[in-house]
Amino acid sequence: MVGILHCQGLVIMLLVTCIFIALTTGPAAAIERHYIWEVSYQYKSLDCCKKLAIAINGLTPGPTISAVHGDTIVVDVINNLLMENVAIHWHGIRQRGTPWSDGADGVTQCAIMPGETYRYTFVADRAGTYMYHSHYGMQKEAGLYGMINVSLPLGVSEPFNYDFDRGIILSDWYHHTSYEQATGLSSIPFEWIGEPQSLLINGRGNYNCSGLAPSVCNSTNPQCSPSTLTVISGKTYRLRLASLTSLSSLSFQIEDHEMTVVEADGHYVEPFVTKNLYIYSGETYSVLVTANKDPSRNYWTSINVVARKPKTPNGLAIFNYYPNHFHEFPPTNPPPGPLWNDIQSQMNQSLTIKARQGFIVSPPKKSDRVIVLLNTQNKINGYVRWSLNNVSHSLPSTPYLIALRDNMTDVFDPTPPPEDYDSENYDIYSVSNNTNANSSTSIYRLQFNSTVDIILQNANSMRANCSEVHPWHLHGHDFWVLGYGEGKFNSSRDIEKYNLVDPIMKNTVPLHPYGWTALRFQADNPGVWLFHCHIEAHLFLGMLVVFESGVEKVGIIPMSNYGCGKTKSLIKRSFDNGFFKYRLNKFMIHFLNTLVKHTQC
Ligand code: C2O
Ligand code: CU
Repeated sequence: MVGILHCQGLVIMLLVTCIFIALTTGPAAAIERHYIWEVSYQYKSLDCCKKLAIAINGLTPGPTISAVHGDTIVVDVINNLLMENVAIHWHGIRQRGTPWSDGADGVTQCAIMPGETYRYTFVADRAGTYMYHSHYGMQKEAGLYGMINVSLPLGVSEPFNYDFDRGIILSDWYHHTSYEQATGLSSIPFEWIGEPQSLLINGRGNYNCSGLAPSVCNSTNPQCSPSTLTVISGKTYRLRLASLTSLSSLSFQIEDHEMTVVEADGHYVEPFVTKNLYIYSGETYSVLVTANKDPSRNYWTSINVVARKPKTPNGLAIFNYYPNHFHEFPPTNPPPGPLWNDIQSQMNQSLTIKARQGFIVSPPKKSDRVIVLLNTQNKINGYVRWSLNNVSHSLPSTPYLIALRDNMTDVFDPTPPPEDYDSENYDIYSVSNNTNANSSTSIYRLQFNSTVDIILQNANSMRANCSEVHPWHLHGHDFWVLGYGEGKFNSSRDIEKYNLVDPIMKNTVPLHPYGWTALRFQADNPGVWLFHCHIEAHLFLGMLVVFESGVEKVGIIPMSNYGCGKTKSLIKRSFDNGFFKYRLNKFMIHFLNTLVKHTQC
C-alpha cells in the first residue's frame, strides 16, 4: 500500500515536471527515438547474384537512424538469425555514460543469442554523420550495417549552405559467405577468399551475369538496378558518405562535378574542393555538390578500389538531373577514377584534411604517454595473424567491461602489452619472418583523463613488396590526427612536425602503406574501448587493441549485458540478492516511461 501511494506521488510529480518541461522548452526539446529491429537472413540480389544477406527488418543496408542532437536513441534488437549471435556497434557515437551500449561483442557485452531481444540506449550527443554495423564475427561483411545522421538542434545552423541532404552508403560485396571467408582465414594452409565481386552504392551493384543461370544471377532483377540520386539543376546537395566496406579502400567521384569536403566523422573540415574523395572503411564524410552541369543528361557516380590491386569492377550509380528519366544511362563512359597505386595522392588528401577555422578544438600540447604500434602480419603456430608489436589480440569469453567492473581477475592476461617495438632493428620494407609473435588477451590500461599518443607504424606484410592500408577506428572517443608520414616514424624528426594548430578530429584514420600515422586522444570516457583495423578480415585475425580507463566510474551495467563466460555466475548472484528488485524497478521505469510518452512530453 505504501508502495502504491509512493508510486502515485511519483507519477504526479513526473506529470508536473513533464508539463513544466513541455511549457519551457517547446517542440525542439530532445526526444526519445525508439526503433524495433528484427535481424534475419534474407536472400538478396544486391549485385544481381542471389546470396544470403543479413537484413534489418528485411533491409540491407538497414534503416537510417535520423536524430537531432541530444535525442536519446533506443533500439530493440531482436535476433532472428536462428543460428548465430549478434551485436551492433554505433560507430562514431561516443557512448558517454553508456559504455555498455557500445555493442562490441566480448568487450562491452555478451552477444545477443538467437531468439533474444536486447535494448541499446544511447544519446546522440553530437551532430554529424555516423554509422552502425554488426560487431560480431564477420557479420558486417554479410550486410548488417546502416547510417546514423544526427542533425543540429533547431535554430542552430551549419557553417555552410545546401538545399538537400542525402545519405550514400558505400560497401563491397562477396559472393562467398563470411563463413567461408572466416574458415579460410583460420585454416592451415591459409586460404584467402580474394577480392570482393562487387562494389555497392546504397546496397546496389551490378555483377556481369553472363554465363550464369538466371536463377543465380539475373541482371534484370530490379533489386540490382543502379541506385539513383535525383538532383534539380542549380541546387546544392550535401552528400553524407559512409564507407562500410569489409576490405576495399575507395575513391568516390561524380562525373564532371567537383565536390567540397565539409565534414569528416562528425567534425567540420576546412573546406577543400576535389574531383575525387578517398574514403576508407569506417570513415564518413559530407561533401557539397552543386548540380551545375548540362541538365539535359545524367552523369555517373562512381567508386573504385584504391590501395590494393583491384580485381573488383567500379561501383556505379546514376546522378540524375530532373526531369530526365532516373534510369537513363549517361551517354559517356564512367570515369575510370584515380590510379589504385597512387599512394602519394592518397597521402596528400589525408594531409589536406584539417579542422575548420572557427571550429578548432585544440589538442593538449603534450601527451602523458606514447604507445607505438607496429602493424605486422605474422604466423603463429602456422596460422596467419595480424599483430601489434608482435601481439595478436584474442578476445576472452567474458567481456572486459563486466570483468573489470566486477573485479574478476582471471578473465584476461594482466601483463600489459608492449608499448613499442625494436624500431632500430626492424626493417619495415622487407618481409620479416615475424615468428616471435604470440596471441594474447592483454589490454592497455590508461590513466583516466590522461592524454595518450598513438603512433601507428606500417610495414611490409608477408608478401614481398606489399604493405596494406589499415583504417584504424577508436571506440568511445575522437582523436586528433597529428600527422602522417612515409617510412619509419622518427621521434626526433617527426614530433616537431605534428600539427597542433588545426588538426582534424576523427574516429577512423588510414595508416598508409609503408607509412605512419600519429594520433592524440584524451582518455576521458570511463569504459573499455576497442581500437582496431576496420578491415573485417584483419580484425578477425587479431588486429585490435583494447583500452581501459576510468572503469571504476562506470555506472551499473544492465543485466542484459551478462550471460556469457564468467558473467553467468554473476547473474545467478544478483538474482539471489536483488534481481527481483531489479526486474521490478525495470517494470516501474517502463510503466512511467509509457505514461510520459502518452502525455507527449
Ligand atoms: Cu566500425 Cu569496432 O567498428
Ligand atoms: Cu588492416
